Amino acid sequence: MAGEGEPLRGLWYMPALAKSLKPGQMRREMLLGEPVLLGRMRDGQAFAMRDICPHRGVPLSAGKILPENTVQCPYHGWRFRNDGVCSVIPSLVDGQDLDPAKIRVRSYPLREQDGLLWVYVPARNEAPKTDPPRVPIQNAVPRWDETQLFPCDIDHAVIGLMDPVHAAYVHDHWWWKRTPRPKEKHYAPLPFGFVMTAHKPSKPAYSLLGDVTTEITFELPSTRFEIIKGSLFGKAFTVVGLTVCTPREAQSTSIIQVFYWPGLLFFIRPFFTALGPTFIADDRKIVELQREGLKFDPHLMLIQDSDQPAIWYHRVKKAWAESLESGADFVNPVQERTLRWKS
Ligand code: FES
Ligand SMILES: [Fe+2]
Repeated sequence: MAGEGEPLRGLWYMPALAKSLKPGQMRREMLLGEPVLLGRMRDGQAFAMRDICPHRGVPLSAGKILPENTVQCPYHGWRFRNDGVCSVIPSLVDGQDLDPAKIRVRSYPLREQDGLLWVYVPARNEAPKTDPPRVPIQNAVPRWDETQLFPCDIDHAVIGLMDPVHAAYVHDHWWWKRTPRPKEKHYAPLPFGFVMTAHKPSKPAYSLLGDVTTEITFELPSTRFEIIKGSLFGKAFTVVGLTVCTPREAQSTSIIQVFYWPGLLFFIRPFFTALGPTFIADDRKIVELQREGLKFDPHLMLIQDSDQPAIWYHRVKKAWAESLESGADFVNPVQERTLRWKS
């Protein structure tokens, strides 16, 4: 069972944006401590497979993608289709009846949608029972994205992301900071997590979009959507921010943030380009600092309502791990509730 700090399996992870792979490109990406070859065949099909040749262990990502849409190992030229099945072993001569198709590299289910690549990491070789999350906006085209590597496990990355009170200290910028005052936010369960229901945001940065409401969802394994709704010139619009924490290795997690907005909001892009990287770097720096304390394996606390989202995260995670273990249906332990804190 996945313990403290360990990522869950049997779920979809988002290691990269679709645009990061052109046809004929591939590379190694670590995912939950496993070397994954993420690639795109010449025909445009993206795929993910274990980045280890089953013959003698060379990373397949160091080979090449052939025009016939196979991956060729750089060592002895074995070729693999995008489902991981071996199609050619060049050293075989007539009469040697070894069937290459009996040899395969483990492949990972991959889904390309909304400009994102989602990879399913199975618990025990099973096919996915769920679909990867959809970005809740029409014609979802990523307009801005930023990726940073945090030196921490997935739990600290997720908890830092949902922490409601760190902003005044960590994101100490005029466009984000507000003098702390009492807050009251309503939360409800979602199938695999919870939502902070729609409310008027108080941070100054939102005023760029006029009078808006925002809703923030979190679902396993580490998917957060912020859904901002407003109107401009009498036309309703939606802006969606997606943030995922993608676990690479035990103590490294990518934070990937992608924003979607309709064409009519073209003027907000400079704002993201100018401030987005700084904002995520704030969180990264505090995680780097936190690592200095975590080295000594201290006992930590989660207190009261302001840490309740983190407490829920641990509970939802535990419930998922138990359902995987026992085969019983997952039951979300989160109950509808209003949380109060000062921030
Ligand atoms: S190691 Fe890959 S073909 Fe031999
Ligand atoms: Fe933050």
